Amino acid sequence: MKVLLAAAEIFPLVKTGGLADVVGALPGALISTGAEVRLVLPGLPAILAGVEGLTTVCELGALFGAGRVTLRLGRMSDNGVLTYVIDAPYLYQRTGNPYQDSQGREWPDNIQRFALLGWAAAHLAAGELDPLWVPDVLHAHDWHAAMACAYVASHPVQRVATVFTIHNLAYQGLFPVEDFHLLGLPSRLMVSQGLEFHGSLSFMKAGLKFSQRVTTVSPNYAREIATEEFGCGLDGVIRARGAAVSGILNGVDGSIWNPARDPLIASNYSARSLKGKPLCKAALQKELGLRVDAKAPLFAVVSRLTSQKGLDLVLAALPNLLQGAADGGAQLAVQGNGDPSLEAAFTAAAASYPGRVAVWLRYDEALAHRMMAGADAILVPSRFEPCGLTQLYALLYGTVPVVREVGGLADTVVDATPEAIQSDVATGFMFGPATTWGLDQAMARTLDAYRNPPLWRQLMLRGMAQNFSWEVAAAQYLALYGELLAGAPGTGQISPA
Ligand code: ADP
Ligand code: GLC
Repeated sequence: MKVLLAAAEIFPLVKTGGLADVVGALPGALISTGAEVRLVLPGLPAILAGVEGLTTVCELGALFGAGRVTLRLGRMSDNGVLTYVIDAPYLYQRTGNPYQDSQGREWPDNIQRFALLGWAAAHLAAGELDPLWVPDVLHAHDWHAAMACAYVASHPVQRVATVFTIHNLAYQGLFPVEDFHLLGLPSRLMVSQGLEFHGSLSFMKAGLKFSQRVTTVSPNYAREIATEEFGCGLDGVIRARGAAVSGILNGVDGSIWNPARDPLIASNYSARSLKGKPLCKAALQKELGLRVDAKAPLFAVVSRLTSQKGLDLVLAALPNLLQGAADGGAQLAVQGNGDPSLEAAFTAAAASYPGRVAVWLRYDEALAHRMMAGADAILVPSRFEPCGLTQLYALLYGTVPVVREVGGLADTVVDATPEAIQSDVATGFMFGPATTWGLDQAMARTLDAYRNPPLWRQLMLRGMAQNFSWEVAAAQYLALYGELLAGAPGTGQISPA
């Protein structure tokens, strides 16, 4: 089975969040499970520099405002996965992140930049760009690649099966309707049953309406997005797809996130010998300017700073968490960047509690590993969370997650209720309503458990024993692709009309 994955970011070359980790790990897992996988990525500077041995597949000429577009093929340097790179200097050769300039403004031509990604994926799938390799399945990730599904649906040759994965329904790729003509698509698609969304043009809807199957990154989020509370205005569209929408939980790349072999942490450790973990904690406290104190419960946050992540609750709960500043009082380390008001509030908190609150407002992959290894507990109080990867990394690093009962967090953490502790399945602490009180209560329970070393050790070891291997997810994706290729009932190509 030949599978083409289309996405805008990939670890380790370009990463703004968990999407990159998934796109970095999924191809290898699918290949080990028996599929033939290639990627198609935009030719951002780090991608052109990081994909090895690029050769020209074809010249595409002038497209989407770019005077010259060339399709190249090379291999990812870390795992050798064959990767098509869309080399369009006018659209992609820029500093900043894939979506925004260095001032945080959306690139004004994002409609063309991501339409080109979808267009190239769809035309590769039609066998027009590289006749030597024609995929059976086109799997597009998030709104950035979603237009691939509309281009396939409007193409006269529709032999490829299409799967669209939602990593975050809140980012939809909305553009002015007046720009529809830039896409080169038939006008019959620009209707409420197609790409139109409350007077805008929605790339997300291209994936939701024109793919054969829609997946998202946890079973719980798949249920949630069919409700008004979590549907971001698209719950009706999602409900209308019925059983074509499902959840497949993300995995963890064990070659990157494994405390026994992680070269980025102060001391390696495993469930068999936890001796290295306190060394990691002391090293982290020292590095961040926290008081070096083995007894102080150290809470960490590693996150984009956006309203999604519920970190305003952490700010509001901070005085309670830190009260009783005697030896052994709790500490907080925050690593993240994003919303300037959250950045300022955390900076102010660090200034108010020197030695007890540390804030690192930068993107730093190596520090994220040291945070996972050095902290005692990680806070993920998200308002919504499609899957969440940091709680998975934390579990495997023996760092107890304190999470809101939402999305993938609820699928991956088992709350330490007396029954769960009794039956030794508890892995963390969970709270329901997104309120300061809810987080307060969960953190108070966490502190109680921390003061009970045998219980804390039990939670750590149960977490470290979790299996979030990508093999499980890859097998589920392959089964889904297989159903489409076998022409399972009700999964025929969706007509764009
Ligand atoms: P999301 O994709 O919504 O941001 P996830 O939990 O799925 O949330 O993934 C976040 C990823 O980004 C994780 O790999 C996490 O370690 C990483 N990350 C977030 N903020 C930072 C940061 N400031 N520095 C390094 N890594 C970060
Ligand atoms: C998104 C979600 C996050 C998920 C990640 C990878 O960025 O916000 O919950 O883990 O994608 O699928």
